[in-house]
Amino acid sequence: MHIRRLATQQELQDATNLEAEIWGAGDPTPRSLLVVFSHHGGVVTGAYDGDRLVGVSLGFPGIDAAGVTYLHSHLLGVRPEYRRHRLGESLKRAQWQFAEEKGLPYIGWTYDPLMAPNAWFNLAVLGAEVRDVWENVYGTLDDAINGTMPTHRFWVVWNAKAPPRSPQGGGEHWRMDIPSNVAALRRDNPEAARRQAEQFFQDSRRLWEGGWRIAGAGRDASGVWYDWVQEPGKDDDA
Ligand SMILES: CC(C)(COP(=O)(O)OP(=O)(O)OC[C@H]1O[C@@H](n2cnc3c(N)ncnc32)[C@H](O)[C@@H]1OP(=O)(O)O)[C@@H](O)C(=O)NCCC(=O)NCCS
Repeated sequence: MHIRRLATQQELQDATNLEAEIWGAGDPTPRSLLVVFSHHGGVVTGAYDGDRLVGVSLGFPGIDAAGVTYLHSHLLGVRPEYRRHRLGESLKRAQWQFAEEKGLPYIGWTYDPLMAPNAWFNLAVLGAEVRDVWENVYGTLDDAINGTMPTHRFWVVWNAKAPPRSPQGGGEHWRMDIPSNVAALRRDNPEAARRQAEQFFQDSRRLWEGGWRIAGAGRDASGVWYDWVQEPGKDDDA
């Protein structure tokens, strides 16, 4: 298994095809755009088993609200049968290497906060930090992973060299469990799943606006949870 940057038209077509397979997407990132990203300041990275592409990530420079140029990571996916072999982590670290080469201070991306594996992967394995809670970022995606769910997202930033900037300690903690039935509900009862996603988003947004921040994620046999902590001096109207 090895990781390398993708640049040729064939490699980038394989990346488009793999994205379509993983997300079952009707509109994967077209090869022409991957060519633009790969050759004009961004990075498309692949994980290979021999000459078979089994994982892919895409990053390109973005400009944040403060005017800082960072690496925006738009997608990361590994073929189901290759998951849990640290390929996701290796692809993310390869993105970091690119960011560092270009002098970019952090990588930023969004993820679905109800996906427990992704929450654990982002916050605990990588050590990324939640910086905001955003409503229905992409609208309806209608793909195999998101279905018709609203795309409420946590915005995370990651600098592999710097430990996450923990929220100011001392405040009260609040454990927010990620429900264990998310996947089953999305499969069997989309209406209930949508209500669950709305409720989780509203709860998260209310905490965020009340000055609470996420100190990290916890995990045991029952599942994954967010450890919210209230920053001192902020009103608790959550
Ligand atoms: C998210 C994804 C890229 C992870 O890829 P991966 O190669 O399986 O990840 P890794 O093997 O590097 O996982 C590193 C750690 O993340 C956590 N993790 C990843 N997938 C997990 C899962 N399904 N369940 C629980 N924990 C998981 C684990 O802690 C894992 O380490 P461990 O196996 O030693 O416990 C992959 O599951 C995927 O392609 N998912 C579909 C697309 C997607 O959701 N993309 C992410 C958008 S943010």
